[in-house]
Amino acid sequence: MSKIVVNDQRQRGKISKYIYGQFAEHLGRCIYEGLWVGPDSDIPNVNGLRTDVVEALKEIKIPVLRWPGGCFADTYHWQDGIGPKESRKKIVNTNWGGVVENNHFGTHEFFELVRQLGTEAYINGNVGSGTVQEMSDWVEYMTFDGISPMADLRAKNGHPAPWSVKFFGVGNESWGCGGNMRPEYYSDLYRQYQTFVRNYNGEKPIYKIASGPNIDDYNWMDVLMRYATPYMDGISLHHYALAAPWEDKRPALGFPENEWFSLISSAQKMDELITKHSTIMDKYDPDKRVGLIVDEWGSWLAVEPGTNPGFLYQQNTIRDAMVAAITLHIFQKHADRVEMANIAQMVNVLQAMVLTEGKKMIKTPTYYVFKMFMEHQDAVALDTHDELATTTSASVSKNDQGYLVSLCNYSIDAADELSLDFDSEVIDVNGEILQGQTMDQHNDFDDPEAIKTATLNSAKHQGHQVSVSIPPMSVVTLHVATA
Ligand code: AHR
Repeated sequence: MSKIVVNDQRQRGKISKYIYGQFAEHLGRCIYEGLWVGPDSDIPNVNGLRTDVVEALKEIKIPVLRWPGGCFADTYHWQDGIGPKESRKKIVNTNWGGVVENNHFGTHEFFELVRQLGTEAYINGNVGSGTVQEMSDWVEYMTFDGISPMADLRAKNGHPAPWSVKFFGVGNESWGCGGNMRPEYYSDLYRQYQTFVRNYNGEKPIYKIASGPNIDDYNWMDVLMRYATPYMDGISLHHYALAAPWEDKRPALGFPENEWFSLISSAQKMDELITKHSTIMDKYDPDKRVGLIVDEWGSWLAVEPGTNPGFLYQQNTIRDAMVAAITLHIFQKHADRVEMANIAQMVNVLQAMVLTEGKKMIKTPTYYVFKMFMEHQDAVALDTHDELATTTSASVSKNDQGYLVSLCNYSIDAADELSLDFDSEVIDVNGEILQGQTMDQHNDFDDPEAIKTATLNSAKHQGHQVSVSIPPMSVVTLHVATA
């Protein structure tokens, strides 16, 4: 039994739409095959980007896309990825499987993807192995509207108009794959590099993001905030949900019951991490000007048998849908500090939205959660009074259309009978459900619609109240209109 009392007067602030952000790295089959097939492919494409994937992603209203990494970002030299494709440098992708990276997908192709998706760009720059000049030139190349060496080069390469870069990350995981730095050293580098991320955009200055801590490295957060707060708009945090200790990646399918719960409990740790990191941020930034940017999160499980271990290709089940719903609820609870989040990763890598195999594409259970939660984007988060069952997670927001209530019951065998109380009379309620019949129910290329959303007719309303039964292993959304 759960009870939620919704009080319109208790508003937590706007839920930044950017917490529904995505991440696409040059890793495995995310960019190549997953997004980019090239204009000559027999897979239907527009300007080299596969149509089925772009169309599916457009339906979930992606607000922002981070690129080109991840660890890849700190090995990426952007000038390798511009100009005629046949003369682009072929490099080794040293982080991810040691495969050849032909640089056919570069800056111009990325902004074509941004255009097709109708999203905004989050570019991650190279601090680990790149120079200040290189980073500065990239920003000039992308955003300067005038006569300059980089703007001229962009025009020569076919794009006279500048692009808009909303967010810029100065390095990635600088404590690890981005250079194994100490926070004191990176703070100074951050201050230096960001100086040359110039604002050519006039009224739309670039939002600069420092490479923040891994999981519970509170010292990293403290040192960065102490030395670099005035120079940053956001600071990142990475935390992946694991079913067992890091070294022991557990299977995405056919897992035992205890791993259902261990993965979910690892995802729930996000709440504690955000709370503790925010407390440190509050010390240096009490007005909450600096956003916490959770630009990598999601389930990290074993790769599918027979696939390249460096490609991080994993299946995606109703359990991952639980991880997504619970984590998005946590971000919404912390709407006052979490400005952006980017699930890792958009296609064919880790907790993906869609998976591809040759010409085929499937939507994952996680995709459906993002679709069901779309109305939360930029809505006002409401602070509710909850008495929730131990396996129920919930979030309520309000926009011009009414209320969106999202719920997740991660019990594997018991339904939760939920009642909701609103400020005024409820005049309409309609619902959607994503429900698993087994713990690892998923879609695959032979059965692409084994699990998908359905209409939920069981929600009833009377007076100020709504009642609904939430089946086990399900995510439910309710659209509620009041008088
Ligand atoms: O998302 C996969 C990798 O995880 C990223 O490249 C890196 O930043 C993180 O360690």
